[in-house]
Amino acid sequence: MEVRAFYWKGDHLLLLDQRKLPEEEIWIELRNHIQVAEAIKSMAVRGAPAIGCVAAYGYLLGIRSGGDPEEVRRTLEKTRPTAYNLFYALSRMERALKEGRDLEEEARSIEEEDYRANLRIGDFGNTLVPEEANVLTHCNTGALATAGWGTALGVIRSAHRSGKRVHVWVDETRPYLQGARLTSWELLKEGIPHTLITDSTAGFLMREGKVDLIVVGADRITARGDVANKIGTYTLSVLAKVHGVPFYVAAPSSTFDLSIRSGDEIPIEERDPEELKLCSGIPIAPRKTPAYHLAFDVTPAENVTAIITERGIIKPVTEENVRRCLS
Ligand code: MRU
Repeated sequence: MEVRAFYWKGDHLLLLDQRKLPEEEIWIELRNHIQVAEAIKSMAVRGAPAIGCVAAYGYLLGIRSGGDPEEVRRTLEKTRPTAYNLFYALSRMERALKEGRDLEEEARSIEEEDYRANLRIGDFGNTLVPEEANVLTHCNTGALATAGWGTALGVIRSAHRSGKRVHVWVDETRPYLQGARLTSWELLKEGIPHTLITDSTAGFLMREGKVDLIVVGADRITARGDVANKIGTYTLSVLAKVHGVPFYVAAPSSTFDLSIRSGDEIPIEERDPEELKLCSGIPIAPRKTPAYHLAFDVTPAENVTAIITERGIIKPVTEENVRRCLS
């Protein structure tokens, strides 16, 4: 069975609670936009494209139950400020409402387009993967983070399915452990060879020549190609540069925010510091120790070898090439 993060059921959304994986596969029913917003904020669903799709259905539920469009949009928008797909999806839903189009159809299109984009990203990305490769990835960018297949993990999936011998180094991804809990789970299901590492192991593996390429996803990409992604991505990009390892970003066009040029303009989500002081619910720091919990960082375009989109590969990553690819 294909991994899915959510299903639209005509009058409600069925969501796989990702906070419980891999131990339990629990599906929750969401029947209004407040529940959808809460599920996004609390990480029951996460990954920018999946957040966008789910928010579109949340908007549909809110409008259907007679909610004020402004309030519905704001409630959903407030959840994860960095994930551009959220704003992309809500803008499309708002436009559909204003133009009197069928909102359910629009939400379905957003979902289907994301799935198709991922398959294309997989095909384009596969051309960059050697016949035999050790690939390092960060966070979870698979079927769980999208409408299906995945972006960076989709590239790995496509390479594996095409018969290439890929082995994946999986960064555990502190503090939510999306790598350890979710990426490993997806790779196991797909039968793709992989090994879990702590985030801080990546640099030394590169030094030892054990990483052939890195592929990660994105939460928001600016016009000049600066990339916001899970905290730790910037560190990986610097290490990749030092060690001459290709550093690829895989993302659909719906992740690009062409209204801003520089990564400095991207709003970076700061989460509850208390989340850093727990590991699977167990305290790992003194209660009184202050903590700083940034959910994302920004990798400058200069550190990115290429961006893989459903419209083609952007290389080198320059504003001119970004705009040309997306126009
Ligand atoms: O905090 P998360 O789990 O939502 O962060 C997810 C990521 O950083 C992903 O790399 C990104 O959203 C792309 S998912 C295809």
